[in-house]
Amino acid sequence: MAEETGNKSAADFGIGVPQKNELYELKGANNYDWGMKDRLSRVFNPKSGKTVMLAFDHGYIMGPTSGLERIDLTLRPLLEHADCLMCTRGVLRSLVPPTLNKPISLRTSAGSTVLTELNEECLGVEIEDAIRLNASMMAVMCAVGNKRFEGLTVRNLCKSIEMGNRYGIPTLGVNAVGKELTRDARYLALAARVVAENGAQVVKTYFCSEGFEQVTASCPVPIVIAGGKKVPELDALKVARAAIDQGAKGVDMGRNIFQADDPVAMIQAVRHVVHDNAKPEDAFQMYNDLKTS
Ligand code: 5RP
Repeated sequence: MAEETGNKSAADFGIGVPQKNELYELKGANNYDWGMKDRLSRVFNPKSGKTVMLAFDHGYIMGPTSGLERIDLTLRPLLEHADCLMCTRGVLRSLVPPTLNKPISLRTSAGSTVLTELNEECLGVEIEDAIRLNASMMAVMCAVGNKRFEGLTVRNLCKSIEMGNRYGIPTLGVNAVGKELTRDARYLALAARVVAENGAQVVKTYFCSEGFEQVTASCPVPIVIAGGKKVPELDALKVARAAIDQGAKGVDMGRNIFQADDPVAMIQAVRHVVHDNAKPEDAFQMYNDLKTS
């Protein structure tokens, strides 16, 4: 207990110096509560306002995906280079050391695999477990336009947002684009907007080569892009550059990092694009310089 007598007298009141209210710069987030902002600041680097998320949750629908067969061996060296780790609770508990101290975007929707029908999901992780795992964000699939599962996945998303708002944990709405849908700006803008209007604090979607700036402009919260199937390293860096130039606030990339010839060099090259504004060619040079042959 503080002593009552003999304390130094308080004198430094800064009279005449107005208290500053600092603006919270992340897109759309100025009116969120403190805990929500704190978690988002762990995901999005407050200096660059951007993020390089490493997605390795693929196993929950695809099993031991190429590059993720032994997460302990192949992914472990990458983790320190990511701003945020996107994974399932199974992999988090068994293979990700808590001493890394990285923010987690926890995959919380679950329910189907590539062997049956994708997107028939529920919320497979209770909010209490997300809290126990100190999740900075909860990632929920949302299949806008899917004739069978649109309603189901929008309801999952809303439930997650509801629970997340209760405890200050943001929800990442992941736009699932089925084979029957065209990944053009018109569709992606609609899907991203639906997810944001329902209250997701961050949207994950795909890049499209034409009109992507319309997708980001009409989405009131930050967009991060998925990398998609593996392409040559320079092409992946070009996509990251184009997406950032057209308003994306980061990448949530998986296969184009962990399936690269040298994943550790690739994640650093992606960081160079996202955080240092590097040209793709310069980042590719960096990739080749760092690459261990
Ligand atoms: C699956 C996901 C994956 O995390 C995602 O697709 C990102 O990985 P990639 O860059 O390999 O596409 O959200 O639902």
